[in-house]
Amino acid sequence: MTTTPQTLTFISPDETADFAARIGSSLDAGDVLLLSGAIGSGKTHFARSLIQSLMPEPEDVPSPTFTLVQTYDTPAGEIWHCDLYRLNALEEVDELGLVDAFDTAICLVEWPEKLGALAPAAALKLAFETDPDTEETRHVSLSWTDPKWVEKLESAG
Ligand SMILES: Nc1ncnc2c1ncn2[C@@H]1O[C@H](COP(=O)(O)OP(=O)(O)OP(=O)(O)O)[C@@H](O)[C@H]1O
Ligand SMILES: [Mg+2]
Repeated sequence: MTTTPQTLTFISPDETADFAARIGSSLDAGDVLLLSGAIGSGKTHFARSLIQSLMPEPEDVPSPTFTLVQTYDTPAGEIWHCDLYRLNALEEVDELGLVDAFDTAICLVEWPEKLGALAPAAALKLAFETDPDTEETRHVSLSWTDPKWVEKLESAG
């Protein structure tokens, strides 16, 4: 199956948050988003916005920089927000319960390169890039192989 690439541009943190909320509304248990990109490119901002959009009551969404994983119960199901930057060994991925969560929860994973071969093939990949000329602009390239994403992204507009 071929990967279909698509690049979107968001000119402010609010535009990124709106897109995160639109994708969020189409997610189900077993959907995994792999968020790659340099430090400060907007991965946590995107994940936080998505999680908050699915919360009935406003709640703090701290960056999982040190905890590696934060979980949230929402009406859409359980959400796992992971930051694997500080992951030391691949075994930790299983120890954290992340391999099971890929099937049972909505998972948002920062620094997914750390997953190596454990990265789920059916995930949606989002690659964040800053813009050399504009401080608040981000370019996000989307790619996937699982055809389920076509419909989910269409409904995200
Ligand atoms: N269009 C935009 N979309 C997302 N974030 C933006 C945008 N414009 C500016 N920003 C700012 O860029 C910063 C992104 O920080 P964030 O913590 O989300 O990065 P990160 O990719 O998670 O980094 P790390 O690898 O350290 O976890 C935030 O301060 C956010 O407000
Ligand atoms: Mg982050």
